[in-house]
This record gives sequence, C-alpha cells and structure tokens, in this order.
Amino acid sequence: MREVATAFAPASVGNVAVGFDVLGHSFQTIGDRVTARRIPEREVRIAAITGTSEELPKEAERNTAGMAVLSMVRELELDFGMELTIEKGIPLGSGLGGSAASAVAAVVAANALLPEPLDKLRLLKFAMKGEAVASGSVHVDNIAPSLFGGLVLTVGIDNPNVKQIPVPASVRCVLVHPHMVLSTRAAREILNRSIDLSNVIWQSANLAGFLTGCFTGDLQLIRESLEDVVIEPQRKVLIPGFQDVKDGAMRNGALGCSISGAGPTVFAWSEDKDAARIRDAMVAGFKAHGLESDAWISTLDPEGARVID
Ligand code: HSE
Repeated sequence: MREVATAFAPASVGNVAVGFDVLGHSFQTIGDRVTARRIPEREVRIAAITGTSEELPKEAERNTAGMAVLSMVRELELDFGMELTIEKGIPLGSGLGGSAASAVAAVVAANALLPEPLDKLRLLKFAMKGEAVASGSVHVDNIAPSLFGGLVLTVGIDNPNVKQIPVPASVRCVLVHPHMVLSTRAAREILNRSIDLSNVIWQSANLAGFLTGCFTGDLQLIRESLEDVVIEPQRKVLIPGFQDVKDGAMRNGALGCSISGAGPTVFAWSEDKDAARIRDAMVAGFKAHGLESDAWISTLDPEGARVID
C-alpha cells in the first residue's frame, strides 16, 4: 500500500450561466494540489498550506480538504489517519471552485492510500462534506466537474446522478479574474427566494437549449441559450464593470458570458479562433473600472482530478 500520494484537481466554473447549482465545468489551466501521507494516529492533520491562500484554517474540521478526508477516515473506520499538505493554485473567493478543488484533490490523494480505493461517486460524497464547510450549503456544481472533468450535470444531492456532457471540440472557456474577493455565502444570501414564472420558463428553455446544443454540436443554439436570466441580474451589482466586461466579450464573438460560480470571476465561452480577442476585451473592461485581472483560456476536456505523484 502507498504511504504518500499527490493529486491535482482543476478549477471549475459553477452554474455555467443556465444551471444554477446543477451544472459546472472544469478548467484545466489552474487547480489545487494536495499531498496525503499516511500516519498511525486515526486523525487528519494539515501540515502546511502554500500558494494563493496561506491563511486558510489548519484545523481539519474547518478546512475543506481536512473535513473531506476526516469524513473518509471516520466513515470508512480506517485504522490509520492522514497528514495533508495543500498547495493552493486557485485564488480564494474568486468563484473558481477553490474550496471544492482542495476537497476533491484531498479525497483523490487519500483514496490512493486506501487498501480498497473507492469509485468517484463515493469520493464525491466525501468531497461534498468538505465543500459544505466553506460555503455553508450543499451544492455540487464545482465538486462534480473538478472530480469527473469536463461539463458535468448533477441531478440529486443524496444519491446524485452525475452526467458528463459532450462539448464541441472548437469551444474554449475564457476566464477573467478581477483582483477582488467575493464571499460565496454573501453572494448566496442576496438571492431572492422567489422567481417570476416567466423567468423560470425562460431559464428552463435556456438550460434545455444549451444542453441540446452541446449534445448536437449546434453552436448557434448554444449562443442563443447561454444566458442567465435569474441569478446574473441579481449578482452582477457585486462585480464592478460586469456589464462592460460582458458587452466586450459578446461584441468580440463570445457564445455567452456570465459570472463564474458566485463571482467575481467572469467566464465566456467562445470558439477557439475568437478566444484571445475576447480575453483582451474582458481584461480591458475591468481595467476601465480600475480593476487589474488575471486571465486564462482553457479547453473543456473531460479530464478530472487525478493522482500526479
Ligand atoms: N452554484 C454556486 C453559487 C457556486 O453560484 O452560489 C458557488 O461556488
């Protein structure tokens, strides 16, 4: 049995505009790494946190990676524990699924140390326990794509159905992260609990149209459907310059543009040939509002978290 393993889990774009809390996709360019090392004590310790957010809690119960692995050690009644070293590649409070990626990388690394490794659906449940520590709610639209990879639809919470959706090969995702922090909790608390029936109908049509466009490779249908009429109008006020950033992306040929997860990162889907121009327009949009940003472009390959060492 292995004594030590390191796993990488990619960042993710939650919601993908039209699937609040149920749809997300991985973003390969950035992610978190966790090393799990077997220890004789039946406990989970966090040895170090390095990278973009070193100030995260080191007590296992208060840390997404720690809680995810602690729940594994307890529920599987392991006769050993784990020491975790977390390397954060995803900025804190960015809307890029950083808390989910740490939890996912941790369970994938820990899984490699088990006498009988678990399948991804069982790992998903342990990672969810970790994610709940950070966001105060159970949602899987970051965990599932980070673990499974690609564009992922999750139906159900207790026994989730996880479905990877094919994405046309020419599609790229552009991510622009303005240098500010938004708390997921705060961005959830501002949401209205009731929605106009007409918006429910519109959003349902957009979700169905978007998924159908992905399955059939119909970029025009994706373009017409990739619009969030429920959540984005409520959250965009939290992101300075959002409308200008979105307008810049759409003017330059984006298939759609919206908030990544709870924000403040903004994502756009585009064809490969347009991605760099769209990225530049989005960065300029934030700059016009006094915000510097980081930007990345990624494919949507269905590659999820994996053991890398
Ligand atoms: N679906 C969640 C939200 C993602 O938008 O609040 C948070 O990362």
